[in-house]
Amino acid sequence: MKTFGALALAISVAAAQVPYMQYVLTPKSRTLRPATVYNVNGTVSAAQDLVAGRNANTTFSGPSAVTYDFGKNVAGLVSFNVSSASNPAFIGISFTESSLWISPDGCDATADAGIDEALWWQVQSGGHYAAPRQNERGGFRYLNVYHNTTGNVTLSDLTVYYTAVPNYSEQQLAAGIQTGYFHCEDEQINRVWYAGAYTNEMCTIDPTAGNSLIYLGIVNSTSNITTPLPWYNNYTISNGTAVLVDGAKRDRLVWPGDIAISQPGIFVSSYDMEMLRESLDSLLVLQNSSGALPYAGRPFGTALPIWSFTYHLYSLIDINDYYLYTGNETYIKQNWNIFKQALNFSLSFVDESGMANVTTSADWLRFGMGGHNIEANSILYYTINIGISLAQHLNDTSEFVQTWPDVAANIKASANDLLWDPGMNLYRDNDTGTSLHPQDGNAWAVVSNLADTDRAVNISQALQSRWGKYGAPAPEAGATVSPFISGFELQAHYIAGRPAAAVNLTKLMWGDFMLDDPRMTNSTFIEGYSTNGDLHYAPYNNDPRISHAHGWATGPTSTLTFYAAGLQVTSAAGQTWLITPQLGGLKSVEAGYKTNVGSFSSHVTAVGSGLNVTFSTPVGTSGSVQLRYAGGLANLTVTNIGSRKREVMRRQASSQEMQSRVVTLDGLAGGNYTVLLEVS
Ligand SMILES: *[C@@H]1O[C@H](CO)[C@@H](O)[C@H](O)[C@H]1NC(C)=O
Ligand SMILES: *[C@@H]1O[C@H](CO)[C@@H](O)[C@H](O)[C@H]1NC(C)=O
Ligand SMILES: *[C@@H]1O[C@H](CO)[C@@H](O)[C@H](O)[C@H]1NC(C)=O
Ligand SMILES: *[C@@H]1O[C@H](CO)[C@@H](O)[C@H](O)[C@H]1NC(C)=O
Ligand SMILES: *[C@@H]1O[C@H](CO)[C@@H](O)[C@H](O)[C@H]1NC(C)=O
Ligand SMILES: *[C@@H]1O[C@H](CO)[C@@H](O)[C@H](O)[C@H]1NC(C)=O
Ligand SMILES: *[C@@H]1O[C@H](CO)[C@@H](O)[C@H](O)[C@H]1NC(C)=O
Ligand SMILES: *[C@@H]1O[C@H](CO)[C@@H](O)[C@H](O)[C@H]1NC(C)=O
Ligand SMILES: *[C@@H]1O[C@H](CO)[C@@H](O)[C@H](O)[C@H]1NC(C)=O
Ligand SMILES: *[C@@H]1O[C@H](CO)[C@@H](O)[C@H](O)[C@H]1NC(C)=O
Ligand SMILES: *[C@@H]1O[C@H](CO)[C@@H](O)[C@H](O)[C@H]1NC(C)=O
Ligand SMILES: *[C@@H]1O[C@H](CO)[C@@H](O)[C@H](O)[C@H]1NC(C)=O
Repeated sequence: MKTFGALALAISVAAAQVPYMQYVLTPKSRTLRPATVYNVNGTVSAAQDLVAGRNANTTFSGPSAVTYDFGKNVAGLVSFNVSSASNPAFIGISFTESSLWISPDGCDATADAGIDEALWWQVQSGGHYAAPRQNERGGFRYLNVYHNTTGNVTLSDLTVYYTAVPNYSEQQLAAGIQTGYFHCEDEQINRVWYAGAYTNEMCTIDPTAGNSLIYLGIVNSTSNITTPLPWYNNYTISNGTAVLVDGAKRDRLVWPGDIAISQPGIFVSSYDMEMLRESLDSLLVLQNSSGALPYAGRPFGTALPIWSFTYHLYSLIDINDYYLYTGNETYIKQNWNIFKQALNFSLSFVDESGMANVTTSADWLRFGMGGHNIEANSILYYTINIGISLAQHLNDTSEFVQTWPDVAANIKASANDLLWDPGMNLYRDNDTGTSLHPQDGNAWAVVSNLADTDRAVNISQALQSRWGKYGAPAPEAGATVSPFISGFELQAHYIAGRPAAAVNLTKLMWGDFMLDDPRMTNSTFIEGYSTNGDLHYAPYNNDPRISHAHGWATGPTSTLTFYAAGLQVTSAAGQTWLITPQLGGLKSVEAGYKTNVGSFSSHVTAVGSGLNVTFSTPVGTSGSVQLRYAGGLANLTVTNIGSRKREVMRRQASSQEMQSRVVTLDGLAGGNYTVLLEVS
C-alpha cells in the first residue's frame, strides 16, 4: 500500500511538469513568511528579521506597529513565537488585501459596515501563539503586527499557514499543481493569465471554513458601526475536501454565476474537477420541488427566500461545463432530471411575447433586472440550446424536450424584434425602458448566439466605443466596471471576430488597472470598481469590504486559452475539439492543458497576414481547425506529423470560405499537426 502511494505521488509529480512555471503564483510551501517590511510605526528594532525567517529578533518597544507585505494576496492562519516579553504585554494582528485599508484599528472588512477587528493575544516569554481555526483569513497581502503596552516584546518565527487549495498535499504544492499553461510575447498578458489561475486557487477553500457573511440580516448598511467587528469563517458549505467560493475573503459561499467564469479558468489551469463537482452538488441538493435552484449555496441560499432567474440558469450552464470538461457520463445522467426540472421552471416565465418575463431582481447585483430582459433571455436561449444537445446525447426524445427548439427560436426572434436598437447598435435592457443598453445583455447576446454575425460585430464595436480610462462600463449597475461581465464581453469580441478589442481590454482592465495599480494585490483580481478608478463598487456602501480575489473576475484566463490560442474542447473532455486561434495583434501565443482524455496544446505565430499553427491533440479523438483571416487569397498547407508517416495536404480557400473569411478543416484525427495559412 505504501509503495502504491509513493508511486501515485511520483506519477502526479511527473504529470505536473508544465512549461512556464516561472509565472505561477501558487506558493511552493504552506508555510509563508512576509516578503518585505511595508511600514514601521513607533520603535521597532530589526523589523526586517521577521521577513528573513525563524531566528528573528524583532523587538517592539512601547506602542508600535509593523506592516508586513507578502508581495501578493495570500490566505491562512497566522502564528508567531515570543522570545521575551514585559508583563503585561499584548500583540495584535490584522489583515488587509488593499494597501488602502491598512489601519491602526483593525482589518479591512467583511460586513456591510465598519471594519473587522484585529486578533489579540496576551503574550509571555517563550510562548507560541496561533490564530484559532475559525480565524483563517481568506485574503490579505498586508499583515499588521501591533504592540500596545509600554515594555518590550521580541517576536520570532511569524508565519502564515497557507489554507487555500486544501485538497493538495505539501508535496503537490512543491511540485506545482498546474496542468495547463499559457505564454505569449506580452509579459503583462502572461501575468494576467497566471493571476487569474491564482485567483481561482485562492477561492478554493476548506468546505468547513465557509461563509464570512456572519452578520447577514443582523448588521446592515443602515446601521452605523463604530467599533471593529469580530469575524470568523467556520460554516460547512459543501461536502468533499475543497470547494470553490466567490471570493477568498468574502462571501466564502458557492455562487453559480461566478462559477460560469471560474470553472473554465480552473479547467485550463489546474483541472481541479472533483472540487468543482462537490461545489456544484452543494447547489443541486438545494433544488426545491418547483425545480428552482438556489441563488447561492448554504447558508445564504436557504436562509433568505431570494431566487434569481439568471443564477438558476448559471447552475445549469455550470453542470454542462463540468460534463464538457470531464466527460463524466455518470454525472450527466444522474443530474439530467434536475436539469430538466430546472429548465421547465425557467420556461414557465415565457409569455406570449416569446420571451421570459423576469419577476425577481436578484442577479449579479446589477440594478433593474426584470421584464423582458435581454441578459436573462440570452442566458435562457443559451441554456435551452445546451439542453437540446444534452437531450440528443442522452437519447431523451420526450415531448417536453421536443418543444425546446421552438421555444428557443421564439426567444431569439422576439428579442431581436423587440429589443434591438438600430440607432445604438445595441440591445435595450427590456421593452419598457428605452435608455439603458446594458453590458451584460449585449455581451451575452453575442456569447449565446442570440445575435447574428452582423449584429455581433456591431455590438462588439459599440461596446468598445464606450470604454473609459479604467475599462468597460456596466451602466446597468451604476458607474460600475464589472470584471465579471467584462469577462463575457471579452468572449463577445472574439466571437465577433474582433480579437484586438479583447486583447486591448485585457491589458487596459486586467493589466494596467487590476494588476498594476498600487492599490491592488498585484496577484489576484478585484470583484468590481468604479468607472472613475475609485475602489468603490456601487452595490456596497462599505469600500473596505470589496473582495480583491474574486473568481468571477478571471475571464481572461480561459478566454486567452480558448480564443487567443484557440484551444477548445467541444465534447466530453476533448473527444472532439476545435482549434480556432485569433491573435488580435499578438505575435506568438502558446497554450496547453490536460484532460481525462489526454494532453492538448497549440502554438500560434503570425506569418505576415497569415498564421502558422502547431497543435497536438490525443490519439483517438477528432476535431476541426477554423482559421479567420482578413481577406484575399488563402493557401493552406496542413502537415500531419505522425510518428510513422508525414502527410502533407495543400489547398486554396474555396470561394465560399473567402467570402466568410474563415477556412475550415473538418474531420481531423487526433495527432500532431502544423497548419500554415498564407494570405496574399
Ligand atoms: C537578539 O537581540 C538581543 C539583544 O539585542 C541579543 O542579545 C541576541 O543575541 C539577539 N539574537 C539574535 C538571534 O540575533
Ligand atoms: C501609528 O501609531 C500612532 C500611535 O499609536 C497612531 O495614532 C497611528 O494611527 C499609527 N499609524 C499607523 C499607520 O499605524
Ligand atoms: C492592548 O490590547 C488589548 C487587547 O485589545 C487590551 O486588552 C489592552 O487593554 C490594551 N492595552 C493597552 C495599554 O491599550
Ligand atoms: C526595550 O528596548 C529598547 C530598544 O530596543 C531598549 O533601549 C530598552 O532598554 C528596552 N527596555 C527594556 C525594559 O528591556
Ligand atoms: C449613520 O451616520 C450618518 C452620518 O454620520 C447619519 O446621517 C445617520 O443618521 C446614521 N444612521 C444611524 C442609523 O445611526
Ligand atoms: C438594519 O439596521 C437598521 C438600523 O440599525 C435596523 O433598523 C434594521 O432593522 C436593520 N435591518 C435588518 C434587516 O436587520
Ligand atoms: C463558529 O465560530 C463562532 C465564534 O467562535 C462560534 O460562536 C460558533 O459556534 C462556531 N460555529 C461552528 C459551526 O463551529
Ligand atoms: C452532503 O451530501 C449529502 C448527500 O448528498 C447531502 O444530503 C448534504 O446536503 C450535502 N451537504 C452539503 C453541505 O452540501
Ligand atoms: C462522476 O460523477 C459521479 C456522479 O456525480 C460521481 O459519483 C463520480 O465520482 C464522478 N467521477 C469522477 C471521476 O469524478
Ligand atoms: C427596464 O429597464 C429600465 C432601464 O431602461 C429599468 O429602469 C426598469 O426597471 C426595467 N424594468 C424592469 C421590469 O425591471
Ligand atoms: C411581467 O410580469 C409581471 C407580474 O406578473 C407583470 O406585472 C408585468 O406587467 C409583466 N411584464 C411584462 C413586460 O409583461
Ligand atoms: C443513445 O443511443 C445510441 C444509439 O442507440 C447509443 O449508442 C448511445 O449509447 C445512447 N446514449 C446514451 C447516453 O444512452
